[in-house]
Amino acid sequence: MSLPLNSQAYLHAPHGFLTAALDERLFADQRLPFLGRCTLVLGHAECLEFLKDSERFAVDARNAGYNSPFGLKFLPESLKVLSNNLLSLDDPDHLRLRRLVDQPFRRVSIDELKPRIRHTCDRLVSEMVEAGETDLVEGLCRQLPLLVIYDLLGFSPEVRERLDAVLHGLTATGNIFNVLRAVMKLGSVRKALSEEFERVRKEPGPGLVTDLVHAEADGGRMSNDELFAMVFVLFVAGHETTKHLISTAVYTLLRESGAADQYRAMDSDARGVAVDELLRYCAPVQMTKPRHARQDMEFHGLSLKRGQRLVGLLAAANIDKRVFEDAQKLDLKRRPNRHLGWGGGPHICLGLHLARAEAQAALDSLFDRYPGLSFATDPASLKWIPRAGLRGLKQLPVRFG
Ligand code: HEM
Repeated sequence: MSLPLNSQAYLHAPHGFLTAALDERLFADQRLPFLGRCTLVLGHAECLEFLKDSERFAVDARNAGYNSPFGLKFLPESLKVLSNNLLSLDDPDHLRLRRLVDQPFRRVSIDELKPRIRHTCDRLVSEMVEAGETDLVEGLCRQLPLLVIYDLLGFSPEVRERLDAVLHGLTATGNIFNVLRAVMKLGSVRKALSEEFERVRKEPGPGLVTDLVHAEADGGRMSNDELFAMVFVLFVAGHETTKHLISTAVYTLLRESGAADQYRAMDSDARGVAVDELLRYCAPVQMTKPRHARQDMEFHGLSLKRGQRLVGLLAAANIDKRVFEDAQKLDLKRRPNRHLGWGGGPHICLGLHLARAEAQAALDSLFDRYPGLSFATDPASLKWIPRAGLRGLKQLPVRFG
């Protein structure tokens, strides 16, 4: 039986469904939107193993016998260009591109950004309070990752405006027409970004875009299309993921008895540990991108055919009781915490230090400044975005107290 991954019942309380599935099997066949038939990898050890094993599993479907990068028959031109990104390429291209962006996303580089990230959170929350707005998803969770990445990249205001319009369409709650409209606008964003790349080529400024444009990758510069794909993947991979981590973390801290007070009593290092546990427990990113079997093979008793798609169900791996004690319990002090919320292997999340810093700054800003923070509506009535792969709230109305 397949898992009801985009149903309200599942999204509201996924642990029961996932534990029942894990008790039965470590792999499950499932049809996923856009991808079609896939094998979900549920077990923690199995999931980590296949994510690490790039010799046998490829992200780029062309390395497993398909004609297009995602193994899809039809792909609009603008999306084809975007497929040359970190998450869709195998080594050596993946390694070459990843080396170019690793440095600014390392822990030490992100530590320098922390005061600015905290300042942005405080500003967004104060604006909500002053305007009498209550929905945290729109007022804080959606805005914060966008403002931070714009700041990091150092874009001109015109480029920001055009990207905003497209990103809003791509991520607007489950509306296929918005997504299509956004895809149509990709061409104009590509043009605006090309102009921006030319501008910083002539007049270098502060920010990662300038660094990328001037970076030498194995003797050659990145092409405009590679730059476009890189910038885009930073937005797409870092935007909704972080938005959902923040909203589900606030929801969980308010919902679980004593959790908000426990968080308030923690010092900064302990809060870092708590954020990782919230990621494990809430699973805003439920699954990985697909990998494709490079050849016919046996994998933990499964007979895989060349080209077969496997997807890591991180949400299940993260409550695998063979690894986690009291796996369904929120334990803000959990240590060690070998969760796979950031993925694993060569494609492990590039932005994990940034996302941690953003989530912690958002929680600190809310829980330290507003001791009376509470739900403004019955939490059982909140609606989840019905999209398999991500777990996030449509809205999160709160009272600041
Ligand atoms: C809570 C927030 C986030 C979560 C849970 C998350 C999770 C993940 C996961 C699970 C993967 C691996 C996917 C796979 O193997 O198929 C990944 C990859 C990636 N993430 Fe994140 N991510 C988050 C935030 C961010 C941010 C803020 C950025 C950057 C601005 C970012 C950039 C990336 C990139 C570029 C990749 C691809 C890395 C590669 O292929 O080498 N992520 N993320």
